[in-house]
Amino acid sequence: MSDPQRPGEVSFMTSEVAQLLEFLRFPSISTDTRFAGDVRACGEWLVEKSREIGLSAELHETPRHPVVIARNEHRPGRKHVLIYGHYDVQPVDPLNLWTSDPFQPEIRDGRIWARGATDNKGQMFAHLMGVAQTMATHGDLPVNLTFLFEGEEEIGSPHLAAFLENHREWLACDVIAVSDTGMVAPGVPTMGYGLRGITCGELVVRGPARDLHSGLFGGAVMNPATALGRLIASLHDAEGKVLIDGFYDDVRPLEAWEREMWAQVPGVGEADFLQVTGAPALFGEAGYSPAEQTWARPTAEVNGMGGGYQGEGSKTVLPAEAMAKFSFRLVPDQDPADIIEKVRRHFEKHCPPGVTIEFVPGHDGKAYHADPHGVFGKAAQRALQKAFGKEPVLIREGGSIPIIQSFREILGADTLLLGLALADAQIHSPNENFPVENFEAGIRLNQALLEELAAS
Ligand code: BES
Ligand code: MN
Repeated sequence: MSDPQRPGEVSFMTSEVAQLLEFLRFPSISTDTRFAGDVRACGEWLVEKSREIGLSAELHETPRHPVVIARNEHRPGRKHVLIYGHYDVQPVDPLNLWTSDPFQPEIRDGRIWARGATDNKGQMFAHLMGVAQTMATHGDLPVNLTFLFEGEEEIGSPHLAAFLENHREWLACDVIAVSDTGMVAPGVPTMGYGLRGITCGELVVRGPARDLHSGLFGGAVMNPATALGRLIASLHDAEGKVLIDGFYDDVRPLEAWEREMWAQVPGVGEADFLQVTGAPALFGEAGYSPAEQTWARPTAEVNGMGGGYQGEGSKTVLPAEAMAKFSFRLVPDQDPADIIEKVRRHFEKHCPPGVTIEFVPGHDGKAYHADPHGVFGKAAQRALQKAFGKEPVLIREGGSIPIIQSFREILGADTLLLGLALADAQIHSPNENFPVENFEAGIRLNQALLEELAAS
């Protein structure tokens, strides 16, 4: 094991941090089949770790990556709290942009640098370490606890809903807690009460039977790359409003109290968005602040596009086909299946002459929205206040965790989103990082949370 500390950077490391670094060494990339063994080894390590701290734990098979369940001894008369997290991570490419190896965690400038440091290993492990400390001090927890750690979140949780259905009784709980979302600014406790939904799809535009010489044939046949460009351009007006027929039909309008509350939230103003994104200017649907645009309005995004020559220099070719990948972020009460059908109709309607299109829908998930002022919501806010010594802010999230709505539909429980991810954590990007301070706060938060939920 190489020394994760650089001389002069960190003078000591807590045992909790050392264990997190061990967890971060597993390259548990769920989407890439070459890492399936590493995902499994990581899950097995979590089972061992959970047993080590006094929980009963086992690995549960799914058709792909296993689920880890760990519990204390459940006793009648106590609240049943389920804490969810995911131990799989996103791929690491482009690898050359990482300052240090994504799976050889380093501590620099008070932050842990590794793939999964924030999303989601660091955040979920804070809960495990909080429980470890409480178990070590008191021999038990104030609640009946179930940890559910998933290895397929980053590929859309394809097997978790079935797992919940199959263990409905066993997993039935009063409330769920998840730390896999954002924190608006360092040291500002943040409770999420909403997530955007998502639906994805891939479009292939086909023209001539093969790539053509663009001098011999250009001008006489439709270029699929041009057709794709026109289809992509047809999605928005010049102000960023989505032009798909019926796209906004079921969008629940923002409430006045939310807009007022969000206007006071630090870290999410225009200057913050400019700074954190590095974009030369902001652009988005008129009449909404960046927080409103990302937390409460739906979008249409191109995630990737290709077709034709991508190599060095020029090649005078008219490509036979072009493709693009899309995702649509959804808000209550949009239905992913309805939206993807509207998208398909939109592309068919706007398809230029001389090409054919094929649209293949991908994974999806519904938006989530809960009342932040319920009994458990209030308990969570007290816990955040205790752990950070500050009044929490209440937000919705731009990101998606589709399983959260399935928890409600299958287990009948709402989820408290207690995010520790900073805007510059670089999740899904090179140089992902997690402040040691957030990890320590997460450990305190877990302890305060279980106490507050037990007393509520
Ligand atoms: N933890 C993120 C989601 C997130 C991050 C929500 C920060 C709010 C703030 C999660 O792991 C994730 O990346 N989800 C995917 C969903 C998908 C693959 C179905 C997303 O939002 O793109
Ligand atoms: Mn993620």
